[in-house]
Parts: sequence; structure tokens; C-alpha cells
Amino acid sequence: MIDSKPKQYKPVIGVFDSGVGGLSVLSAIWNELPHAVTLYLADQAHVPYSLRPETEVREYAAGITRYLIVQGAEVIVVACNTASAAALEHLRQTFKDVPFVGMEPAVKPAVEKTSSGVVGVLATPATFQGALYASVVERFAGDVKIIQHTCPGLVELIENGFLNSTFTRDILEDALQPMLEQGVDTIVLGCTHYPFVIPLIQDIVGPKVRVIDPAPAVARQVRRIVEKGSKDTTEDYAQSLPDTMGPSKKYLTTKDPPKLESMLPLLLKQGGKVKQIYWEKPPAGFLTDNLPRVS
Ligand code: DGL
Repeated sequence: MIDSKPKQYKPVIGVFDSGVGGLSVLSAIWNELPHAVTLYLADQAHVPYSLRPETEVREYAAGITRYLIVQGAEVIVVACNTASAAALEHLRQTFKDVPFVGMEPAVKPAVEKTSSGVVGVLATPATFQGALYASVVERFAGDVKIIQHTCPGLVELIENGFLNSTFTRDILEDALQPMLEQGVDTIVLGCTHYPFVIPLIQDIVGPKVRVIDPAPAVARQVRRIVEKGSKDTTEDYAQSLPDTMGPSKKYLTTKDPPKLESMLPLLLKQGGKVKQIYWEKPPAGFLTDNLPRVS
């Protein structure tokens, strides 16, 4: 007997970051879209992005996008504030038919929620220097005082699983104490790595200070885009997915699969198999499944 029940629509969503930070966005996407096929790409060969020139980050973001599209991604989530600041506009212009969802520091909701009129923002230097952040502050800050801090070294500690070490606490205390002294009551996480240290942040600032993780709002935006494009909820669509897609949660790294595999249970509360992909050199900007030959 032929099963006439339409198969569950499975949107294919490509998500990338310089490293493990975008996993905070990935798990929010799973909450919104439990049937999605997700391809998560960590460009760990180049982490941290914030220490690299903007043009270089743009080139990596374009190379990753190209690769994810070839793998079947219909929506690309730039799950990195630094890459969004450097490359989102460029990506939208280069890949005109592809819907992108990027990150921008959640200054707007923070300004709406603050009672003290003082908001703290934690992000990388590259995010603070970008036009995206300047425009968000200009459009939404109004009379609210915004205090910024870059948390040097925090991304690297989180990449290595130090979510609660003395060093991690020291970096966060350096950032948060001056904010508390100035009366901050709302803190915006402007880097996708930072939600993994929310328990530590909350411990330092106390329960009365609100900490805003933008990932759930970003995931809702991904769902809206997917729903708009999901005319094809039929079996035909499900069958049109590439055979090579494999499991519905797929992980890729440009550097060290065992290391990322060891981090997944800590950050996502579930394990997974990670595949290695490689940057071609030269020409830069292309990712390949095979180890490139060195000429
Ligand atoms: N997760 C990235 C972000 O949101 C990390 C930055 C970096 O690689 O420097 O900004």
C-alpha cells in the first residue's frame, strides 16, 4: 500500500560561526523548528574572527555560504555578530536569492526594558567598530546610557570549554563591575559565544540584572523565513533533498573534529559526529571536502 500521508517538511538551514558560539543560536533554532535539517559549520581554522581584518572575515563568510548552499542549505544563519558586522551586507548582495539571518546586538529590546536607563553591551572589538552596531545605537539608544566592554580572551576560553574557570570569571568581572557601578540593569550579549557563560554572568551581576541572549529572537526570524518559503510541504519536496544529507543534525569544522565533538555534549547537552572540511589555499575562499594538495 502506498503511504499517502505527506512527509514532514524539512527545511535545510545552514548555520555558521568562527567556532562554537553559533551553537547557542543552533539550539534555539531546534526549539523553533524541530523538524529542520541543520548544517552547522565552525570555521575553527580562523577563530577568533575579531582579530582578523574585516575583508578577510568577509571572504571566509562568502566561502562558507557558497559551501553551505552546495550542501543544500536554503537559509543561511550568520550566527556570529563579528561576521554579521563584517559581511552580512556583502553576503546579501552576492547571493541575491538566498535568505540570510544575521546577528545584531539587541540594543532595541534592552532599551525598551531598562528601568535604570543604563544598559551594558558585551561584544568583540570588531562588532563595536562595525557600522551595524553604530546604526543600532543611533536608532534605538535614545536617552539610555550604553556602556560597552570587549571581554578580551573570553571567546578563546569558551572555545576551549572554560565556562566557569577563574580566568573566565576575572574577564567577566572586569567587564561587569564598572557597568554595575554605573547602575546597569540590563546586559546585552553581543557575541554568540557569551550565552554559554550566562550562569557565571548572572552570578556576578545578581538576579536583578536582566541578561539578554538574542538567540530565541533570531530563531523566530529563521522560522518566519522558512514558513514563508515552505509552499512545498509534500513528499516530493522531502524526496528532493540531497541523498547525501544524512542525519538531520550535521556538524562541520575547518580544523579539529575530535575537539568540536568533545565540546558538543557540554554546550548542546547532546553529542554528534563532526566532519572535517578544508580551505583551499590557493585560491582562498573555497571550501572542499578533501584535503587540498599543496603545490
Ligand atoms: N561568535 C562570534 C561573535 O558572535 C565570535 C567572535 C570571534 O570569532 O572573534 O562575535
